[in-house]
Amino acid sequence: MDKLRMIGGVPLVGEVKIAGAKNAALPILCACLLTDQPITLRNVPDLQDVRTMIKILQEMGVQVSFPDATDHHHLVLNAANIKSSEATYEMVKTMRASILVLGPLLARMHSAKVSLPGGCAIGARPVDQHIKGLKAMGATIHIKGGYIEAQTTASVGRLQGASILTDMITVTGTENLLMAATLASGTTILENAAREPEVGDLAELLVKMGAKITGIGSDRLVIEGVEKLHSAEHAVIADRIEAGTFLCAVAAVGGEILVKDCRPDTLDAVIVKLKEVGLEMEVGPDWIKASMRGRPKAVSFRTSEYPAFPTDMQAQLMAVNAVAIGNSTITETIFENRFMHVQELNRLGADIAIEGNTAIAQGVEKLSGAIVMATDLRASASLVIAGLAALGETQVDRIYHLDRGYDRMEQKLTLLGANIERVK
Ligand code: EPU
Repeated sequence: MDKLRMIGGVPLVGEVKIAGAKNAALPILCACLLTDQPITLRNVPDLQDVRTMIKILQEMGVQVSFPDATDHHHLVLNAANIKSSEATYEMVKTMRASILVLGPLLARMHSAKVSLPGGCAIGARPVDQHIKGLKAMGATIHIKGGYIEAQTTASVGRLQGASILTDMITVTGTENLLMAATLASGTTILENAAREPEVGDLAELLVKMGAKITGIGSDRLVIEGVEKLHSAEHAVIADRIEAGTFLCAVAAVGGEILVKDCRPDTLDAVIVKLKEVGLEMEVGPDWIKASMRGRPKAVSFRTSEYPAFPTDMQAQLMAVNAVAIGNSTITETIFENRFMHVQELNRLGADIAIEGNTAIAQGVEKLSGAIVMATDLRASASLVIAGLAALGETQVDRIYHLDRGYDRMEQKLTLLGANIERVK
């Protein structure tokens, strides 16, 4: 198993180029199932979850090609010949986002069998809202042997448009129902829809494919179903969480970096908090120049749905608070168990206590290097930031979590001058 070894205390200086967003690329890859024509994608991040999704699609019969051998971010997907509408337990257990094939398969193939994702390290994460929405659109769904078995009514064939109000805001739930609705007969209204930029990016691709969607970017999506979708080209939106992660790194470690090819307009809540921390930022249309001198100031915050502060940035900003001047409270409202990095940060000398869904951090002047273990994707990023800020050597084990969601993180950090290496 790979590990990352780093010697902390070196300021970050230089430029970093942000990749396409993992959480936009995953639903966008699944959208290819909605048509028998090719979909060309650019700016697809080269990371483990994307490779897993490609494998799932290939098992269904989707042809995936890389037209330019030197560019792994440019893909063409062709789902003309679907030979299986099944996502197996073996695949879904490695990546919950596999549930995103359910809506498109049901819409185009009129049946789907997808393993029910189990619990997850950060929370129970049920998919009841996905199922409830598809049932409202006329699907018959049974859970059998751990699988979601879904069919449209044989006499009608297509899903039927419906008004759907989800009980909570769900990102992949909105994406699944949005994709399903594009090929339904009649109009679907999705109320309480997630407004995350990744949902908007998926919707933009669907419109290019011929879908009729209004309300993109709002919490009310109206989809007028069409009979067929067609070929399209799309570049995946920049990863706001990767950009935010590098901004937190410079806030904790110090230095001056230029974050390139990002979308500052999707980072408002993160930028507001990092200004409070004392990070100096100049913001352009697709870049952020950030510099930090001295120790950060502690900031309290709570996570919530977009446009509020993202849960996917909670662990990274907590690493900044760990070395900040002052105390902070961090409240996690999206997932019930997303504080597993706290014990590991404390092994590096942080002083953080958990009370229910709130973490209380007393900033310390210096962390000291240690061996720590990554428990999930964003927790890994938090430990890397803390390790880069700590005195001496830190080793982050189980780095496969990081590889699921960051495109060459340690290479990018090395280019910024960090003393970090991957150990096999
Ligand atoms: N929920 C339900 N029932 C449902 C769906 C969701 O109870 O049917 C609950 C969840 O348990 C959770 C809350 O609603 O408490 C929100 O979950 P959501 O469905 O929005 O999360 P998700 O779609 O499974 C996506 C991202 C996550 C990100 C969350 C929140 C993808 C592939 N994943 O997950 O990304 O944290 O939205 O923004 O888009 C990550 O990248 O590290 C990551 C975990």
